[in-house]
Amino acid sequence: MKIFIDGEFVDKDEAKISVFDHGLLYGDGIFEGIRVYKKCVYRLEEHLERLWYSAKDIMLTIPLSVEEMAEAVCESCRINNIEDGYIRLLVTRGKGDLGLSPDTCPRASVIIIADTIRLYPEEHYRVGLSIVTVPTRRSGPAALNPAIKSLNYLNNILAKMEAAQQGALEAIMLNDQGYVAECTGDNIFVVHKGILYTPDVANGALRGITRGTVIDLAEAAGIKVKECNLTRHEIWNADECFLTGTAAELIPVVKLDGRVIGEGVPGTVTKQLHAVFHQEVSTRGVML
Ligand SMILES: Cc1ncc(COP(=O)(O)O)c(C=O)c1O
Repeated sequence: MKIFIDGEFVDKDEAKISVFDHGLLYGDGIFEGIRVYKKCVYRLEEHLERLWYSAKDIMLTIPLSVEEMAEAVCESCRINNIEDGYIRLLVTRGKGDLGLSPDTCPRASVIIIADTIRLYPEEHYRVGLSIVTVPTRRSGPAALNPAIKSLNYLNNILAKMEAAQQGALEAIMLNDQGYVAECTGDNIFVVHKGILYTPDVANGALRGITRGTVIDLAEAAGIKVKECNLTRHEIWNADECFLTGTAAELIPVVKLDGRVIGEGVPGTVTKQLHAVFHQEVSTRGVML
């Protein structure tokens, strides 16, 4: 496997960065997770747009143009013969001195890993996940804004560990007001009386690309979508629930905090959206 680091492709075992990179020292950097389906990089422009938004938020100058970055992503897939896979694209603050100030880092580093991923065991796509709400809250926009896809994921890692302690593969994180924000690496949706609901991004959710896809697909199928405040009450009493993410794709949830959701099996709207999602991903993207 060849990894792109600052304009060069190096072998996996040689792919190294400085211990003085502020991405490592302070989590100072941003990233994207991007999917490749049938030699198409799915919604690449949207991922790069979000990367540039994150960069602007943390005042990071990405040392490539959008076109050069798109080409580097595609070339990483070509060189590794990726037909179906997962790309991890990182931009770190780069090498600097000890101390938080990014002023000592003259140039950001770009790393692209083209690999594969499987987030949840296959059977859960058929039978659904049982998840829990955990004590660790999603940081609010006044702290580290969840809209920034930063390298600082400790908040979510703590939540993931708390889920594992309760025997669950995924966790719901509430925001500091107690509304449902999202899961540790996925957005959340519920279906209630035929309407699709998802937390508004202002509630502490990342504006997920898969979330956007599902909203588009639902609207195209004539399903009404509402982005609003949701509490756990709305999830416990929903007819259906599912999570979305680039790595997870679309996965049903059948239980939250010991309460069975709907019939306790993946629902019809979930299955319908799952089917159209798989059609969409194989038809939309930048060809390698
Ligand atoms: C915290 C968080 N929420 C939601 C998502 C889903 O976003 P996307 O669909 O763009 O992968 C991710 C994906 O990495 C994430 O890290």
